Amino acid sequence: MYTLPALNYAYEALEPHIDGLTMHIHHDKHHQTYLDKLNTALTNYPDLAALSAEDLLWHFADRVQLKTPIDIATAIKNHGGGFEHHNLFWEIMSPNGSREAVGDLSAAINARFNSFADFKIQLIDVATKHFGSGWAWLVLNEKKELAIYSLPNQDSPLLSKHYPIMGIDVWEHAYYLKYQNRRPEYLEAIWQVLDWQKIEERYQLGLKK
Ligand SMILES: [Fe+2]
Repeated sequence: MYTLPALNYAYEALEPHIDGLTMHIHHDKHHQTYLDKLNTALTNYPDLAALSAEDLLWHFADRVQLKTPIDIATAIKNHGGGFEHHNLFWEIMSPNGSREAVGDLSAAINARFNSFADFKIQLIDVATKHFGSGWAWLVLNEKKELAIYSLPNQDSPLLSKHYPIMGIDVWEHAYYLKYQNRRPEYLEAIWQVLDWQKIEERYQLGLKK
């Protein structure tokens, strides 16, 4: 059984950028529901449940789809994605942290996108234009190159063996209470609480995956 990770900071710690009520509902209700539905889907598949959620999605094509009926595979894709994406999301934010890329990731971003400022413009543009629910991602692709794109719903880059370095949740549940339809304001607010030291740690993990 997977379990809900606690936040490493108080629910209100990201204010005024991300409000405490949104954090409570997002973590305690939405994330919890993805978790519950993932655990339900895996009830009769203990060998799959023994994998980390990351590996469950990474090996989706070669393990999950082969071993489970289509409706269970779909539940694992949707709720496994929802569970793992939110694990990542809480991890890459913090009330104090590096607000610009550091270390090897900083060099890789500058090499790929010209500068951190240009990278921000591209990522925010993708997140702003994403139609409907989904996530904007910075991933390491199969060539271990950085790439920006968005995916709908809880479709995971991991399904394509792309390692998500960071992602921004653009489901309305992530911002509607405070920002209503003003997604660009939410994206600017999220940018203020990203912790690039944590994102650098994910970059290093992705290089080794
Ligand atoms: Fe979410």
